Amino acid sequence: MVPQKSRIVNMMARVIAVCNQKGGVGKTTTAMNLAAYLAMLGKRVLLIDFDPQYNATSGLGVEHAPDETIYHVLLGGQAHERAIRRSYLANLEVVPASPDLAGALIELVNLPEREWYLNRFVAKVRDWYDFIFIDLGPSLNLLTVNGLLAADEVLIPVQCEYYSLEGLTQLLQSIELIKNNLGHSLNSINALITMYDKREKLSREIAREVRRRFPYRVYEAEIPRSVSLAEAPSYQKPIMLYAPQSPGALAYEELAEEILGGNAEKVMGTHPPMRPVERKLAPLENEVRLLNEELEMLEEPPFELPVDTPYHFGSPMFGDRI
Ligand SMILES: Nc1ncnc2c1ncn2[C@@H]1O[C@H](COP(=O)(O)OP(=O)(O)O)[C@@H](O)[C@H]1O
Ligand SMILES: [Mg+2]
Repeated sequence: MVPQKSRIVNMMARVIAVCNQKGGVGKTTTAMNLAAYLAMLGKRVLLIDFDPQYNATSGLGVEHAPDETIYHVLLGGQAHERAIRRSYLANLEVVPASPDLAGALIELVNLPEREWYLNRFVAKVRDWYDFIFIDLGPSLNLLTVNGLLAADEVLIPVQCEYYSLEGLTQLLQSIELIKNNLGHSLNSINALITMYDKREKLSREIAREVRRRFPYRVYEAEIPRSVSLAEAPSYQKPIMLYAPQSPGALAYEELAEEILGGNAEKVMGTHPPMRPVERKLAPLENEVRLLNEELEMLEEPPFELPVDTPYHFGSPMFGDRI
C-alpha cells in the first residue's frame, strides 16, 4: 500500500534521505548535524537511523529499549510512536537503529511491496515534523531503496577524493532506476561537498569537478575536513554543542540555512518550536492523531499499488545484494 490520499494532502515534513553507497563520506555526520541545526532554528525534526551500524543513534547518545528501533517498527509489530525517542535538543527526535536492521534485508525480500515499508512508516509520522532525515548505510540494497522511496529529496555527501566521482555516476543511475521502475518522484537531488581541504590541490579539483559535472544542485556550503566534526560523536554531541565556532560547525549552519532558504514557501507554513509543556502533551496528541487517522481510513478506501506491478531491477547492483 502507498500512503493514502488524505495523508499526502497533510504532508508537512520535507523528507530527506542522506545517501551514498560509499562508506565514510560524511552521511551520518551530515544527517546528525543538519538535523541538530534545523532543530535549533525552531524546526521540528526527526532523524531516522536506517543503518544497521547505528552510528547516528550512538553519536547522539540515544537510549532505547532493545525492541524499540526502526527494525521493530517495520517488521516486529512495534507501535510506530514507541520507537521515536527524544534527544537532548528540544526539537530533535530520533528513531534508533540496531544491528537487527541487517536482518530486515533478508526478511523483506519475500514480502509483497517490500520496497515501501519505510515509506509507510514515514507517512504515519510526517505530519508531526518539519523535516525528516533518513541516514542510510553504505550500500545500494533493499534498505537503500526503502530509504529513497520514503523521501522527497536526496542529499548526497561527496567526499573530496579521487574515486568519489565514479561512485556518483552509479548512484545517480540507481536513483533513475528507482524512479523509472517504481514510479517515485524524487525531484530534488542535491550534492554536498564534504571533507574539503582548501589547502590540497586534489581537494580543490574534486570540488570543482563535482560542481561542473553533477547534473543537479550542488550546495554552496562546503563542509571542511575538521577534527572537531570527527570528535563530536564520541562526546555524543552534535557539533553545535561540542565546538560551535569551529569551521565544521559554521559550515553545517550555513548548509541548514541554505536548505531552509531554498524553500521559503515551505518554511512559512511550519510549526513554532515545541514548548516543554507541549511536549508533555505530545503523547496525548499522538493518540488523537492516531484516532483521526483511523477515522480517515474508515472513510476512504485504501489506495493500493497493484501487487503484480511489473518491475524488476535489471542492474546487478540491486539483484545480487538483496
Ligand atoms: N568533515 C569532516 N571532517 C573530518 N572528519 C569527518 C568529517 N565528516 C565526517 N568525519 C568523520 O569521518 C568518519 C566517517 O563519517 P560518517 O559521517 O560516519 O560517514 P558515513 O556515514 O558516510 O559512513 C567518521 O569518523 C566521522 O566522524
Ligand atoms: Mg553512516
